[in-house]
Amino acid sequence: MKKEEFLERYAIERKGTNSLKWDKLEERFGDADLLAAWVADMEFKAPEQVVEAIKEKVDHGVFGYTYVPDSYYEAFIDWERKRHGYEVKSEWMRFSTGVVTALYWFVHAFTKPQDAVIILSPVYYPFANAVRDTDRTLISSELINTNGVYTIDFEDFEKQIIDNEVKLFIHCTPHNPVGRVWTAEEAERLLSICDKHDVLIVSDEIHHDMTFGDHTHIPSAIVSEGKFSQRVVTVTAASKTFNLAGLLTSQIIIENEALRKRFDKFVNSVNQTEVNLLGMTASEAAFRHGADWLEGLREVVKSNERYAVEQLTAHAKDLVITPLEGTYLLWIDLRAYIEPDKVKEFIQDTCRLAIDYGEWFGEKSKGFIRLNLGTEPRHIKQAVDSIIEHLPTSKKI
Ligand SMILES: Cc1ncc(COP(=O)(O)O)c(C=O)c1O
Repeated sequence: MKKEEFLERYAIERKGTNSLKWDKLEERFGDADLLAAWVADMEFKAPEQVVEAIKEKVDHGVFGYTYVPDSYYEAFIDWERKRHGYEVKSEWMRFSTGVVTALYWFVHAFTKPQDAVIILSPVYYPFANAVRDTDRTLISSELINTNGVYTIDFEDFEKQIIDNEVKLFIHCTPHNPVGRVWTAEEAERLLSICDKHDVLIVSDEIHHDMTFGDHTHIPSAIVSEGKFSQRVVTVTAASKTFNLAGLLTSQIIIENEALRKRFDKFVNSVNQTEVNLLGMTASEAAFRHGADWLEGLREVVKSNERYAVEQLTAHAKDLVITPLEGTYLLWIDLRAYIEPDKVKEFIQDTCRLAIDYGEWFGEKSKGFIRLNLGTEPRHIKQAVDSIIEHLPTSKKI
């Protein structure tokens, strides 16, 4: 589907619909009157087939307990095989009411209190929360930032693992917020280090479908022909791709039988809930029918990125904007123009925007912002134009 058709069919107003992104600005930012460009969901309706599938359930009018039907496994397994080359078996699959919940379960199931868990920083902030909130020890290996392009400091990653006797690595692939789609070589090297030091890998692949150009997502379980699959647990969902986050449905893949047993034992002690009927229905329809919709969305995101990068760099050449290989989240370094301590004042009070601040993702990222590109071009234009209008180009504020 082309961008124009996608926008025509799916763009929608969300204000006043109990949207966390739009209707909780006062609570989250202390200011209700900002343009919402923060949390990663979008101003687009789901594909018609998703809406129809939900309507069918609504028309039936019964919302009793349900289970995961064979057709769901079929749709997900097909999607994973066709789009990502990963042949998943249904017996490896488990479900959770969101990826973040699954991350907490993994930490509980596979580590003990005080065990060290490593992340590549900056990264999606619930990774650190999942470690801290469960009384584990957070170890961060900083990604190397070379003029906005982020790479892994493999020596540091290995050293941190050895020095801290790390037990678990929470991996973000593709990576939020630095937009990387890790290459086969990077993935092989990273996972080899984990293998060498007996570190379990939690692979958060929620952004797997949002990749651009030649950048191809490789599920961690099939890196190097599946060499590391027995130490990988994967979590993914249709939610980020198809804007279904409010339906609280995600899937976990654990190939290793012993790990699966350990996981089940833990989860049975904290969760006795069946799956969400509408979440299952929507995700299945999305996996089955969403490919064309997704093409349209990718065109919109790419075009929003182009506008933002061209305009911002034309007006402020020292802004560093990280190339978007994957995700729909643009990572911008404002430090050439704005003192890190003044970013909040600049972005909120002057530009009137609600974005994710760099320091949420890692303490060394103060002075950066993350702009959500999964929206109508007019919102991106407003955000970008406002930054350009107010950015001091002569000296730092
Ligand atoms: C890397 C990553 N994992 C997980 C999530 C959220 O997942 P969920 O809403 O299923 O908990 C996000 C949302 O932005 C994300 O970027």
